[in-house]
Amino acid sequence: MLQEKIDAILAQVAEMTADNAEALEALRIRYLSKKGEIASLFNDFKLVPPEQKRELGQRLNEVKTLVTERINALRDQFGAVAKQSNRVDITRPAVPQALGTRHPLSVVRKEIVDIFARLGFTLAEGPEVEDDWHVFSALNFAADHPARDMQDTFFVEQDEQDVTRNIVLRSHTSSVQVRTMDHHKPPIRIICPGRVYRNEAITARAHCFFHQIEGLYIDKGVTFADLRQVLLYFAQQLFGSDTKIRLRPSYFPFTEPSAEMDVTCMLCGGKGCSFCKNTGWVEILGCGMVDPAVLEASGIDSSVYSGYAFGLGIERITNLKYMVKDLRMFSENDVRFLDEFRPVH
Ligand code: DAH
Repeated sequence: MLQEKIDAILAQVAEMTADNAEALEALRIRYLSKKGEIASLFNDFKLVPPEQKRELGQRLNEVKTLVTERINALRDQFGAVAKQSNRVDITRPAVPQALGTRHPLSVVRKEIVDIFARLGFTLAEGPEVEDDWHVFSALNFAADHPARDMQDTFFVEQDEQDVTRNIVLRSHTSSVQVRTMDHHKPPIRIICPGRVYRNEAITARAHCFFHQIEGLYIDKGVTFADLRQVLLYFAQQLFGSDTKIRLRPSYFPFTEPSAEMDVTCMLCGGKGCSFCKNTGWVEILGCGMVDPAVLEASGIDSSVYSGYAFGLGIERITNLKYMVKDLRMFSENDVRFLDEFRPVH
C-alpha cells in the first residue's frame, strides 16, 4: 500500500509545475504541509511491519527530499524571473526626451552674424544699462538735439539739469560702436547683436524691448561703395541670390550721408503685392558713413580714417523671413509657436 502511494507521488514529481506564486504555494500545501500527502505517508509508515520499515523508511525519506527539492527549484525559478525584471535592460530603446528648440530670434541672429563673420567681422558686445555718452552724446546727439526724442528712452537715472549725466537702458546697439572705438584703434570691423529698450506700449507692431544688430567698419579709404557692396552680399545671402537692394536717403545723427535700405519683397519678388503695399520693396535697415564728429569724439582722426555703420532689427528680419505677424509672439514663449522653428532633419 505505502509502496504504491510512494510510487504515485514519485511519478507526480516530474510533472509538478507552477507558473505563479499561488500555484507554487498550493503545491507546497498539498505535499509538504502538516496535513499534506507526505505527512500522511509518514502516518501510514507507523503501521508498516517492522521488517519492511528499513526499506520503506528510506524510500519515504527519498520521496520527501525529491518533492522538497522540486518545489524549491520551482521557487528559485520565480525568484530569478522576479530579479531579472528588476534589472535595467540597457538594450531597451530610450524613452524619448522632449528637447527644446532654438528661439527664432536666436536662429536669425546666428544666421546674420555668420554672414558677416564670413566677411571678417568679429563679435562685440556692450552693456544694456548705459550712460548718455555711449547712447547719445558720442554719437553726435547734441544735448538739445531733437533727435534724442526719435527714441523713447527708458531712464534709470535722469538728471533734469544735465542730460549728459543720464543713465538709460540703451535704445539702440549703436552704443557698442562707441564702446569699441573707446578700446580699439582702426581697422575696426565688428558686428554687435543685443537687446535694446524703448518706452513703447506693447502691441502687435511695437514692443518695449527688441533686438538689433549693429555693424561698424572703420579703416583708411572706406567708401559708400564698400557699404553698398557688403549690404548687397548680406541681403542676397539672407534672402536669396535674386534679391536686389535700394538705398534711400535718410537721416541719423551719427552718419553722414545716411540711408535706409530696402530689399525686393520676398513674397512677390518685387512685382508688388499687398505685403509690400504694391511697391515691390520692404525696408530692412538703416546705414550710412560714420559722421566725422563721431570718429573724433572717440579719438579717431577723421582726416585719416573713414567708415560705415549699419543697424537692423532682428525681429523685423525674422518677421520677414517667417511671416510672423505679431511681435508679442517672440517673448510669450508659447511652445506651440517655438516648436514651429524646430529644425527638420
Ligand atoms: N541706431 C539706429 C536705430 O536704432 C539704427 C542705425 C541706423 C544704426 C544707421 C546705424 C546706422 O549704425 O548707421 O534706429
